[in-house]
Amino acid sequence: MRKTGQVHLVGAGPGDPELLTLRALRLIEGADAIVHDRLVSREILALAPEGARMVAVGKAPGCHSVPQQRINEILCELAFEGLDVVRLKGGDPFIFGRGSEEAAHLRGRGIAVDVCPGITAAQGAAASTGVPLTHRGLASGVRYVTGHRMAGRPLDLDWESLADPDTTLVVYMGRANMAEIALRLIARGRAPHTPVLAVAAATTPRETRIISDLAHVAAAVQRAAPEGPVLFIIGAVAGLHGASQDGAGAVEELLTDAVPRLGVAAHA
Ligand SMILES: C[S@@+](CC[C@H](N)C(=O)[O-])C[C@H]1O[C@@H](n2cnc3c(N)ncnc32)[C@H](O)[C@@H]1O
Repeated sequence: MRKTGQVHLVGAGPGDPELLTLRALRLIEGADAIVHDRLVSREILALAPEGARMVAVGKAPGCHSVPQQRINEILCELAFEGLDVVRLKGGDPFIFGRGSEEAAHLRGRGIAVDVCPGITAAQGAAASTGVPLTHRGLASGVRYVTGHRMAGRPLDLDWESLADPDTTLVVYMGRANMAEIALRLIARGRAPHTPVLAVAAATTPRETRIISDLAHVAAAVQRAAPEGPVLFIIGAVAGLHGASQDGAGAVEELLTDAVPRLGVAAHA
């Protein structure tokens, strides 16, 4: 009887192949089959060994080309064939990637699963734009939220806590609903002039940055119509974008703004 294969849930990072971990590279190069999402870049897929079975299960926004249940079945079928399977996902498999649901399903069928983390889009976008997600005196924490809503359902987020001005808010999958997200945050007290950086296709040659504020970001992104997935970084730190030339000056200016509100000592 053939031995059941293993499934590796692997994070491919935000796009730039150089941001793959060494372990992800080793697993991809040794895979018998690769089941991959739409957001995994061509350069990364090209690292697969010749002869590896490549299965695309990408989901475009609003259109699920392969239903999740079918993806789960495909993974089980490949593992039961005795193959070493890499389930390759954009960013990190455990951040808005359904990795935990797939892992639970596979383990429930007696299939061994291991997880190889990836650099999530927020970290990739922060590094490539030079915008830190936390900064002493500007943001004491960061929250990752999804701006995606289930069909016909309202956006189910804790608006009260998300309006906290000391927290950087990173919105994944928020493009379609950004106008509503911004309005709700403003209604709960987040300032309309809060800086927002929208980054499309972060870390890839197509990376596009749109600098705006909460009141205008939805319209700005719609006007710019960038290609690729978009991530929103909302909060005082987004004002540091482009600060690399005059880093200290920009930080000082932002802190002057923030310090009376936060009641803290300024440390740039
Ligand atoms: C289904 S989620 C997957 C997130 C992924 N697991 C991660 O950790 O980055 C897809 C969303 O991630 C964000 N995203 C992924 N890659 C991105 C990139 N290179 N640039 C900007 N946003 C990205 C977008 O908000 C996109 O709609």
